[in-house]
Amino acid sequence: MNDSCARRSSSSSITISLMEIPQPARQLAADLRAEIRKHDYQYHVLDAPVIPDAEYDRLLLQLKELEKQYPDLVTPESPTQRVGAAPESGFKPVRHERPMLSLENAFDEDEVIAFDRRISERLGLEDSISYSAEPKLDGVAISLLYEGGRLIRAATRGDGSTGEDVTHNVRTIKSVPLQLAGSGWPERLEVRGEVYMPRAGFEAMNKRAAAAGEKTFANPRNAAAGSLRQLDPQVTANRPLDMFVYGAATAMAEQLPGLHSEILERLSQWGLKVCPQSSVVEGAAGCLAYFRELSVIRDELPYDIDGIVYKVNDLSLQERLGRVARAPRWDIAHKFPAQEQLTVVRAVEFQVGRTGAVTPVARLEPVEVGGVTVSNATLHNFDELRRKDVRVGDTVIVRRAGDVIPEIVSVLKDRRPADSQPVELPGHCPVCGSDVIRPEGEAVARCTGGLYCSAQRKESLKHFVSRRALDIAGLGSKLIDQLVDTGLVKSPGDLYRLTKEDLIELERMGQKSADNIMAALDKSRETTLERFLYALGIRDVGEATAKSLARYYGSLDRIIAASEEDLQEVPDVGPIVAARIHAFFSQPHNQSVLKDLRDSNTGIQWPETAGEANTSGEGPLAGMTFVLTGKLDAFSRTEAKDKIEALGGRVSGSVSSRTAFLVQGHDPGSKAKKAQKLKVDVLDEAGFIRLLTTKHS
Ligand code: IVH
Repeated sequence: MNDSCARRSSSSSITISLMEIPQPARQLAADLRAEIRKHDYQYHVLDAPVIPDAEYDRLLLQLKELEKQYPDLVTPESPTQRVGAAPESGFKPVRHERPMLSLENAFDEDEVIAFDRRISERLGLEDSISYSAEPKLDGVAISLLYEGGRLIRAATRGDGSTGEDVTHNVRTIKSVPLQLAGSGWPERLEVRGEVYMPRAGFEAMNKRAAAAGEKTFANPRNAAAGSLRQLDPQVTANRPLDMFVYGAATAMAEQLPGLHSEILERLSQWGLKVCPQSSVVEGAAGCLAYFRELSVIRDELPYDIDGIVYKVNDLSLQERLGRVARAPRWDIAHKFPAQEQLTVVRAVEFQVGRTGAVTPVARLEPVEVGGVTVSNATLHNFDELRRKDVRVGDTVIVRRAGDVIPEIVSVLKDRRPADSQPVELPGHCPVCGSDVIRPEGEAVARCTGGLYCSAQRKESLKHFVSRRALDIAGLGSKLIDQLVDTGLVKSPGDLYRLTKEDLIELERMGQKSADNIMAALDKSRETTLERFLYALGIRDVGEATAKSLARYYGSLDRIIAASEEDLQEVPDVGPIVAARIHAFFSQPHNQSVLKDLRDSNTGIQWPETAGEANTSGEGPLAGMTFVLTGKLDAFSRTEAKDKIEALGGRVSGSVSSRTAFLVQGHDPGSKAKKAQKLKVDVLDEAGFIRLLTTKHS
């Protein structure tokens, strides 16, 4: 059906307006819509855009202008019409043509095996049954009704027989086609699926809401449900919703294929989004293998799933199996262990980290979450504690996802004991008693005790011996605690003065373990400058920065001697990190730790080099340092850097008095101002290209 026919039935003045619309305009509108639909599909369904966003915006704008010029061209399926008016009478009830049933649950492997056995027995089949295995998306079940390929209604599940009309909101979801693609769809087709919010979108949305002081959602499922319950579709349109479809039904069953997996394929051809992880598996063994596979990648999926759904793939077998009360006999949801549980907060304590960060931790009534007993949950920082207002005695929801530290999702305020008090930030370090300060504008409060604080000392030592630092195998967390508590080790240098006899004295330490530790200590003496720098635990100096520093200077003494300004010449070192490095080496107690490590027969050594800073490269740009800012048209940053280095020049991250040239593209940042202040020569892109070509020849 073309667009003008659709209009004719709904407007009496159409004959006149139709005549006013020239054929080329109608053709152009049809072409633009087809083009835009194709790109919507590429972008929102396939996640594989083929044109830049700006080009897409241009097409949409062109269509909007055309529709403004000829309002009679507008049809409800036009991509310009996703966001319409709010329904006048709220959410109207919708009676489902076929009930939206629910799923039986299986909570372990035995229940899945029993499900498969029941099916084989009922069907009297010897061969294994084929199942469609699909992630069970954690969102909101939605039914879409297409007539003549056009989306005419979207409804929630409700009680299974009557749901709510949410068409105005579902239309705003870009992966839901307003008009089906291709051909061959049944005249009236009901498609079912799950509207969900991808995790990344959920987190970004919550962050924005928190920053604006607005209400945040506890999880992506609540966010999806809340977004669909908006009266104003404009609000829903700004929520990052998406939809996967997982089934279809029509009165003309012969118009759909005979296997569920083929129906999914067909839906996908019609432009609907089908979960790419869906797969056909054989028998209970196939189901369980799929379940295990998905359990492993579950946390990497961009959306939340709470289990796997297995469906008998053959529709004629589904028919034979039928249903019991509210659920079919041919499908089942194999649930992952719940990741959220209720428990009670016994205490809120403050832990002190390596850099002195004072972090609130909730001690919980132990509870099993997703197969692991949880008795602690991080509260990240004091602001977070205040925002969630977690108090001793509170009943809370704890969540554990993958390997991350369990966290408190929210407090059940109506179960709060009447006499509870908000938790205060301690003024003094709970470990060493030094002042705790919280710099203006920072979320993190810190103990000022430095290495006087045994908590910071322990954490620093644990970092020092860790695998990517000096890699002293066998010196675990408990052992370090003991070494510090017994006073055997105060600073890293002490580690290298430990004797086997010292170690043997410790709890639970055998001859063999002591020998192993001595050997590991010995091995760690031969190290690299990079590892040593990282091991020092300078704030904001991770492995990558340690590597850059080592490469650039080649020697520890040169790094110690470098000024803040010098340090900014090192690739990727900006003013803040430079200040941290400089401050670290200026502190007397750090100087004595270093002196101790280097002087007193610890035996630690590493090869030193001249460093890139001192090896003038060869080529016409040798000895010249360039800084890049803004966007260049002809090259990416990396390409520009490669070109400079190929001619012997160096590229630094920040401008200093030693910078030879600042290469400035569009939208330059603060570096341009700094260059002006330091009177550094500035090259625009043309000048830069000229320099490269003249120096090259
Ligand atoms: S098929 C309405 N397949 O799980 C029954 N359901 O209790 C549809 N769900 O909220 C059963 N992913 O929306 C099916 N791949 C999938 C699913 C799925 C999520 C939801 C469904 C409903 C719940 C079933």
